[in-house]
Amino acid sequence: MDKFTIDGPTPLRGSIAISGSKNAALPLMAAAILGDSPTTIRLVPKLKDIYTFNNVIRVTGTSVQFDEENNTLTIDSQNLGFAEAPYELVRKMRASFYMLGALMGKTGEAKVSLPGGCAWGPRPVDLHLKGLEAMGADINLEKGYVMGSFPGESVPGGEYELNPSSVGATVNLILAAVRRAEKFTIKNAAKEPDVVLLCDTLSKMGANIEGAGTDTITIRRVDSLKGIDTSNDPDRIETGTYMIAAAMHPESSLTLTGCKPEDLGAFTDDLRKTGAVVTIEGNTIRVEAPETIKAVSVETQIYPGFPTDLQAQWATLMTQADGRSTVTDNIYFDRFSYVPELKRLGANLSVKGNCVTIGGSSTLSGTSVMSTDLRASVSLVMAGMIAEGTTDVLRVYHLDRGYEDLEDKLNQAGSAIVRHDED
Ligand code: EPU
Repeated sequence: MDKFTIDGPTPLRGSIAISGSKNAALPLMAAAILGDSPTTIRLVPKLKDIYTFNNVIRVTGTSVQFDEENNTLTIDSQNLGFAEAPYELVRKMRASFYMLGALMGKTGEAKVSLPGGCAWGPRPVDLHLKGLEAMGADINLEKGYVMGSFPGESVPGGEYELNPSSVGATVNLILAAVRRAEKFTIKNAAKEPDVVLLCDTLSKMGANIEGAGTDTITIRRVDSLKGIDTSNDPDRIETGTYMIAAAMHPESSLTLTGCKPEDLGAFTDDLRKTGAVVTIEGNTIRVEAPETIKAVSVETQIYPGFPTDLQAQWATLMTQADGRSTVTDNIYFDRFSYVPELKRLGANLSVKGNCVTIGGSSTLSGTSVMSTDLRASVSLVMAGMIAEGTTDVLRVYHLDRGYEDLEDKLNQAGSAIVRHDED
């Protein structure tokens, strides 16, 4: 297992190129399975979750070729002969559950392992399953597996309201419906950019989808979908993470290239409220840190609200703010595993329910910390970059799931992060 040793404090200066989005790439990869000819997806990040999903897809007989040098993935499902996703792979990454919608859409049936637990709570898939039933599918659970099938070549469809709105359920329902449901409407559908990109990509393949980016999406069945050559979007969470990192040290001035600023929703305005100067020109974002960081409380919401995937990083920034603030997570109520670790570095935080209160102006000093998930890990790296002395962040395999070339990118902008074997 690898760890990072970080010497701080260091400002971030210069430029970082943003990678393709992990959470947008995964639905596109599932969509490619639905095509009758190969699909090529560009701007796919080299991340552990992408490699895991490649292997999940390969189990079905689908060919997956990853041209890593060019971040280009080609998926050809013409030899797909086995509509299953086994527990051994699904347990490694929840998004493998997208195979349920993709395989049911492609072949009419699927056997997909339930994903199991997660580091921060139950993260159920009940809405995926109830939505498929509302579409007309038969869903049965057997020994930890979901057995899903459509009773005929197609089903009349219907309507399902997601409560709460869910990215994953919206993706799975779209994947299942595009080739199978005469007309299916998803109410309170996810409006996240990842879902909009999925709908646009499927539409280019020949699907009939209305309402992407609104809370009502209607899908009408088509007989076939063709493979295409298409591009993934830049990673909005990686972008937001580095924007926050740049606001943390008063001497930082960081330029991010290859971004999609409009995908950041409410986040950019919240960052400006801290006093950070954010300048957007086309696909480039520049962040200049404020002299004094103003305390700004945030609450996570579905898009375009403040994203849950940036709340740990925000709380880390707020440890340096001039005053008290709160971060409330309304999407996941228990996503605070970073709190005890930040406290080990000298931060002053306390959690009550789904809200963390952060006392600002803490001087952080380096020590060993450990993380339990992707966004918690990156927050500890950010804290290490502004802490006095040396910080060891253990178990950085979490980071390798979701941040492409993290230490190389940050070191290029002035950080001092070294990767070692933990032993
Ligand atoms: N929910 C249910 N039942 C369901 C599905 C979801 O109750 O069947 C609830 C969840 O418990 C949660 C809420 O609905 O309270 C929203 O969850 P959602 O389904 O939208 O999350 P997800 O699709 O499982 C994706 C991202 C997450 C991100 C969330 C929220 C991917 C692969 N994952 O998860 O990303 O936090 O949307 O935006 O796209 C990450 O990248 O670190 C990450 C965890």
